[in-house]
Amino acid sequence: MSFVKVAETSEIPTGKMKMVKLEKSEIMIANVNGKYYAIGGKCTHFKGDLSKGTLSGNVVTCPRHGAKFDVTTGKAVAGPKGSTPPKIKDEPSYKVKVEGKDILISKT
Ligand code: FES
Repeated sequence: MSFVKVAETSEIPTGKMKMVKLEKSEIMIANVNGKYYAIGGKCTHFKGDLSKGTLSGNVVTCPRHGAKFDVTTGKAVAGPKGSTPPKIKDEPSYKVKVEGKDILISKT
Protein backbone atom coordinates (compact mmCIF):
# COMPACT_ATOMS: atom_id res chain seq x y z
CA MET A 1 0.00 0.00 0.00
CA SER A 2 1.59 3.28 -1.00
CA PHE A 3 0.71 6.56 0.61
CA VAL A 4 1.13 9.85 -1.24
CA LYS A 5 1.39 13.30 0.30
CA VAL A 6 -1.55 15.43 -0.79
CA ALA A 7 -1.72 18.29 1.71
CA GLU A 8 -0.36 19.73 4.93
CA THR A 9 -2.29 19.84 8.18
CA SER A 10 -2.11 23.65 8.33
CA GLU A 11 -4.18 23.81 5.12
CA ILE A 12 -7.17 22.04 6.64
CA PRO A 13 -8.18 23.34 10.07
CA THR A 14 -10.79 21.55 12.20
CA GLY A 15 -14.20 21.59 10.53
CA LYS A 16 -12.76 22.41 7.09
CA MET A 17 -12.35 20.49 3.85
CA LYS A 18 -10.03 20.61 0.87
CA MET A 19 -10.11 19.06 -2.59
CA VAL A 20 -6.89 17.35 -3.66
CA LYS A 21 -5.84 15.32 -6.67
CA LEU A 22 -4.38 11.84 -6.57
CA GLU A 23 -3.58 10.55 -10.03
CA LYS A 24 -6.81 11.28 -11.90
CA SER A 25 -9.11 11.23 -8.89
CA GLU A 26 -10.43 14.27 -7.08
CA ILE A 27 -10.50 13.50 -3.40
CA MET A 28 -11.84 15.55 -0.54
CA ILE A 29 -9.99 15.65 2.76
CA ALA A 30 -12.04 16.66 5.80
CA ASN A 31 -10.85 17.51 9.29
CA VAL A 32 -13.32 16.26 11.90
CA ASN A 33 -12.19 17.24 15.40
CA GLY A 34 -8.53 17.01 14.44
CA LYS A 35 -8.81 13.70 12.60
CA TYR A 36 -8.51 13.59 8.83
CA TYR A 37 -10.73 11.61 6.47
CA ALA A 38 -10.69 11.24 2.69
CA ILE A 39 -13.59 10.41 0.38
CA GLY A 40 -14.42 10.98 -3.29
CA GLY A 41 -14.65 14.72 -3.87
CA LYS A 42 -17.33 14.80 -6.56
CA CYS A 43 -20.89 14.09 -5.47
CA THR A 44 -22.21 10.81 -6.85
CA HIS A 45 -25.42 12.62 -7.87
CA PHE A 46 -24.26 15.26 -10.39
CA LYS A 47 -20.62 15.83 -9.46
CA GLY A 48 -21.11 18.71 -7.03
CA ASP A 49 -17.82 19.77 -5.44
CA LEU A 50 -18.17 18.42 -1.90
CA SER A 51 -15.27 20.52 -0.62
CA LYS A 52 -17.47 23.57 -1.28
CA GLY A 53 -20.33 22.11 0.73
CA THR A 54 -20.86 22.35 4.46
CA LEU A 55 -19.39 20.05 7.06
CA SER A 56 -21.42 19.42 10.18
CA GLY A 57 -19.78 16.93 12.51
CA ASN A 58 -18.79 14.06 10.23
CA VAL A 59 -21.44 14.74 7.57
CA VAL A 60 -20.83 16.84 4.46
CA THR A 61 -23.75 18.34 2.56
CA CYS A 62 -23.37 18.75 -1.20
CA PRO A 63 -23.61 22.40 -2.27
CA ARG A 64 -25.69 21.54 -5.36
CA HIS A 65 -28.79 19.62 -4.24
CA GLY A 66 -28.10 18.77 -0.63
CA ALA A 67 -27.08 15.10 -0.66
CA LYS A 68 -25.24 14.12 2.52
CA PHE A 69 -22.25 11.83 2.97
CA ASP A 70 -20.50 10.52 6.06
CA VAL A 71 -16.89 11.60 5.55
CA THR A 72 -15.60 8.84 7.85
CA THR A 73 -16.95 6.08 5.58
CA GLY A 74 -18.07 7.68 2.29
CA LYS A 75 -21.58 6.35 2.85
CA ALA A 76 -24.47 8.39 1.47
CA VAL A 77 -26.75 9.24 4.38
CA ALA A 78 -29.27 11.32 2.42
CA GLY A 79 -30.00 11.88 -1.25
CA PRO A 80 -30.67 15.12 -3.14
CA LYS A 81 -32.90 17.51 -1.18
CA GLY A 82 -32.29 15.38 1.90
CA SER A 83 -34.32 12.42 0.61
CA THR A 84 -33.99 9.15 2.50
CA PRO A 85 -33.20 6.46 1.88
CA PRO A 86 -30.55 7.94 -0.40
CA LYS A 87 -30.90 6.70 -3.98
CA ILE A 88 -27.34 7.63 -4.85
CA LYS A 89 -24.06 5.77 -4.69
CA ASP A 90 -21.69 5.98 -1.76
CA GLU A 91 -18.40 7.80 -2.21
CA PRO A 92 -15.19 5.77 -2.20
CA SER A 93 -13.19 6.30 0.97
CA TYR A 94 -9.42 6.33 1.27
CA LYS A 95 -6.95 5.59 4.01
CA VAL A 96 -5.32 8.65 5.55
CA LYS A 97 -2.21 9.02 7.65
CA VAL A 98 -0.45 12.02 9.09
CA GLU A 99 3.32 12.19 9.28
CA GLY A 100 4.53 15.34 11.00
CA LYS A 101 2.70 18.10 9.15
CA ASP A 102 2.02 16.04 6.06
CA ILE A 103 -1.31 14.41 5.17
CA LEU A 104 -0.92 11.27 3.08
CA ILE A 105 -3.58 9.13 1.47
CA SER A 106 -3.63 5.75 -0.15
CA LYS A 107 -6.00 4.64 -2.87
CA THR A 108 -5.94 1.00 -1.83
S1 FES B 1 -24.76 17.07 -7.25
FE1 FES B 1 -24.70 16.63 -5.14
S2 FES B 1 -26.78 16.47 -4.57
FE2 FES B 1 -26.83 16.84 -6.71
